[in-house]
Amino acid sequence: MDVGIKGFGTYVPEKVVDNAYFETFLETSDEWISKMTGIKERRWAGEDQETSDLAYEASVKAIKDAGIKPEDIDMVIVATSTGDFPFPTVANMLQERLGLGKVATMDQLAACSGFMYSLITAKQYIASGDYQNILVVGVDKLSKITDMTDRSTAILFGDGAGAAVIGEVSEGRGIMSYEMGSDGSGGKYLYLNPENGKIFMNGREVFKFAVRIMGEASRNVVEKAGITADDVDMFVPHQANIRIMESARERLGIPKEKMSVSVNKFGNTSAASIPLSIGQELENGRIKDDDVLVLVGFGGGLTWGAITLRWGK
Ligand code: UT7
Repeated sequence: MDVGIKGFGTYVPEKVVDNAYFETFLETSDEWISKMTGIKERRWAGEDQETSDLAYEASVKAIKDAGIKPEDIDMVIVATSTGDFPFPTVANMLQERLGLGKVATMDQLAACSGFMYSLITAKQYIASGDYQNILVVGVDKLSKITDMTDRSTAILFGDGAGAAVIGEVSEGRGIMSYEMGSDGSGGKYLYLNPENGKIFMNGREVFKFAVRIMGEASRNVVEKAGITADDVDMFVPHQANIRIMESARERLGIPKEKMSVSVNKFGNTSAASIPLSIGQELENGRIKDDDVLVLVGFGGGLTWGAITLRWGK
């Protein structure tokens, strides 16, 4: 059975925050932020918008795009580090709000690798034959856990959501290969600091890890899929920093025009970043049926995950 994406949707909050905003209270500049990260602006959720609200908007679009009814969804997996509450989970909340049946729901925490982990998890349930339509959401409201007094992290993060309905797809389409991994010894470089409830990051260390692991994991999944880098139509790395993404692209051996870049518009949105980038390319007609995509994420944990996927239902 081939398992892939049957429906897809994204959502970003309306509020646009440009780099100049940070100049008003931090010692930074649009020039530094643009040059060092590739970020020009990001979206922040409104006061009354919680993580589950962002997830809901993207999910409605994905279910509609799949051409199924909410009651056809038989499981929900939400990748997030910023759930409204530790419990009930965002997935629990979606079950009620979307009017789903009394189905299994779970939040899944692998930080910025979360959407990769969740897609790969959903694939196993579909392939077992026990489930038919799993709603997978990558969502984060990082603005609520960002330390706005720390100039090296405040400028990086944004809010958003992406959702996919995972199920059986036409022969030859869907997930061709995948890899997941973790290294807890790097947990100290990127974590939620219990003292202030905000993100702590050692940027240099995360940077080094990211460049190495994104290149390695991408190359591994391409090889596992039995293809070469030349067969890849679109490379969609976690949108953390344009310099990290460029290094990973070079290590994989993909031309510049085949890399998806949305970090300039959305910043780093953690679990939402890969689906937001896919959404942008779909909108621009840069991803078509039967295109081969390489998706790769890395993040806190430290964790990583990569997927080769042939697009289409
Ligand atoms: O989803 C995964 C999460 N995280 C990431 O992917 C982030 C990975 N890391 C990075 O993207 C980069 O490490 C940063 C963009 C955060 C920083 O870039 P860097 O090349 O690692 O610079 P650095 O931390 O070594 O800092 C260089 C200088 C420092 O000044 P000194 O010590 O050389 O005087 C920083 O204090 O840049 C300074 N700096 C800033 N300057 C202006 C740090 N942040 C800023 C800022 N504006 N916002």
